[in-house]
Amino acid sequence: MWTNLVSFIGAVLLFRFVLNEAVVFKFTNFECKSYNLSWFVFHNYRLKAVSRDRVLLNMNGTVLHPVNNIQLHAKILKKANGFKPWILESTVDACRFMRKRYDPFTIIVYNIFKEFTNINHTCPYVGPQIVKDFYLKSELLILPFPSGEYMLTMQWHFHSKRQFDTNVSFIYMEDLLKRN
Ligand SMILES: *[C@@H]1O[C@H](CO)[C@@H](O)[C@H](O)[C@H]1NC(C)=O
Ligand SMILES: *[C@@H]1O[C@H](CO)[C@@H](O)[C@H](O)[C@H]1NC(C)=O
Ligand SMILES: *[C@@H]1O[C@H](CO)[C@@H](O)[C@H](O)[C@H]1NC(C)=O
Ligand SMILES: *[C@@H]1O[C@H](CO)[C@@H](O)[C@H](O)[C@H]1NC(C)=O
Repeated sequence: MWTNLVSFIGAVLLFRFVLNEAVVFKFTNFECKSYNLSWFVFHNYRLKAVSRDRVLLNMNGTVLHPVNNIQLHAKILKKANGFKPWILESTVDACRFMRKRYDPFTIIVYNIFKEFTNINHTCPYVGPQIVKDFYLKSELLILPFPSGEYMLTMQWHFHSKRQFDTNVSFIYMEDLLKRN
């Protein structure tokens, strides 16, 4: 009985290990831009490869005046001769979302990202907005993703006026043979 249980757990762990080894999930590009430098400025945004399979994303920006009204327009595009719209698109009331996690797509993105940032609080937002050493963990991605390169574009609006973009591209490769 115990031996069976132990070997079952062992098999599950081994399977997970092999599975994780076979997945590459990492950033490939990060582009940001402010459209209103009197409300949001970027000090820096960059990717840094620390190993073959891990790329860190860092971002440092400042909200110059408190904001209580934020709309996020998010879309995932898949690369195929340029980026084409894909199935996921969402417009979220960010202040409402931070009070109550109501949008399933945003919940997945937020869960991947929340431990690396100081934005995990409710509105208002003002001052430094930091993302530090953020890297992608495939365990947190509960969506079935076909292998490929994607871009998650996020347009941030304050009071329905576009203030800045954060566009991040990443690859997701499930097949060990396609690793290179
Ligand atoms: C972000 O992506 C969108 C496409 O959805 C594009 O219109 C916009 O120019 C991009 N912004 C930056 C800063 O690259
Ligand atoms: C730019 O930001 C200022 C706040 O500093 C705001 O009053 C103004 O409405 C914003 N302009 C646009 C086009 O969003
Ligand atoms: C963000 O950038 C500002 C302005 O350059 C700097 O004063 C601040 O220390 C930076 N914060 C972090 C966490 O890097
Ligand atoms: C925000 O993240 C910090 C650091 O991970 C954590 O200590 C804090 O409890 C989080 N706050 C909320 C409201 O989730």
